[in-house]
Amino acid sequence: DLYNFRLIRPDTKLYGIIGKPVGHSKSPLLFNAAFKSVGLNAIYVHFLVDDVKMFFDTYSMPDFGGCSCTIPHKEVALKCMDEIDPTAKKIGAINNICRRPDGKLTAFNTDYIGAISAIEDGLRGLNRLSPGASSPLAGKVFVVLGAGGAGKSLAYGAAQKGARVVVANRTIERAKELAVKVGGKAMTLEEVKHFHPEEGMVLANTTSVGMKPKIDDTPIAKHSLKHYCLVFDAIYTPKDTKLLREAKETGAVIVYGTEMLIRQGFEQYKNFTGLPAPEELFRQLMEKHA
Ligand code: ATR
Repeated sequence: DLYNFRLIRPDTKLYGIIGKPVGHSKSPLLFNAAFKSVGLNAIYVHFLVDDVKMFFDTYSMPDFGGCSCTIPHKEVALKCMDEIDPTAKKIGAINNICRRPDGKLTAFNTDYIGAISAIEDGLRGLNRLSPGASSPLAGKVFVVLGAGGAGKSLAYGAAQKGARVVVANRTIERAKELAVKVGGKAMTLEEVKHFHPEEGMVLANTTSVGMKPKIDDTPIAKHSLKHYCLVFDAIYTPKDTKLLREAKETGAVIVYGTEMLIRQGFEQYKNFTGLPAPEELFRQLMEKHA
């Protein structure tokens, strides 16, 4: 009973994920189990959506609580919002929309929060929080590989935490454009191999290099990894990318893309319900249905 159908009443709050395609999303599984676990009168469904504007016009009734937003709507949906979280606005992409009691639609980007919090916790495990610094990323050199949607999220998120951001991308123009916006440096994927102004840097891959089926590819050679204390890969298929395997062999702390995925879900649940996310339940379900 994925949708807890027996619980649906006229006042049941409706949530969902809008996208195209959308049927593969595991979000309904996670959110419905979470709602059930705390007895919330709510349901979360897949919405296969073509026209985002029409969707928000249609779902303007009070029992619509909000939605998650996936490909290809993360950018278009911005235009339908009444209010946008400032960082989400800068990134230019949203993935979480909440309908307030007054009917206003407020949007967030929880992708960057998921990734940055996972990286911060990875660094905290290293005990590198400098005295007085609010984030272990403050002052660190943070190299982002890729300048697409995920690259933007990571670059903005890291800059907001006070990191010194470097954007490396195959197409240098895109790297430059993003670097200017976050007050960072730009370089090519070739140049970044020889870039090591200091030891203990942080590396975040947001390119698709290493993703299934090309699992033997990696965006940066192993010998360059020794200058990094932590390596994150936004790819989660496979979970253990070649980049992360080699980073582990080099002695870096590694942070999996699955960790970003699950943590962005926690943030969505908090925004939807105002409650803390049932983190253990989410983790168990993700593992069971991997
Ligand atoms: P996402 O939203 O997941 O970030 P995207 O916007 O399509 O996806 O961005 C994909 C990123 O992967 C880009 O930075 C892209 O580099 P370009 O800007 O040069 O296209 C990078 N990328 C994809 N395939 C690549 C490859 N074979 N080698 C290096 N970089 C690659």
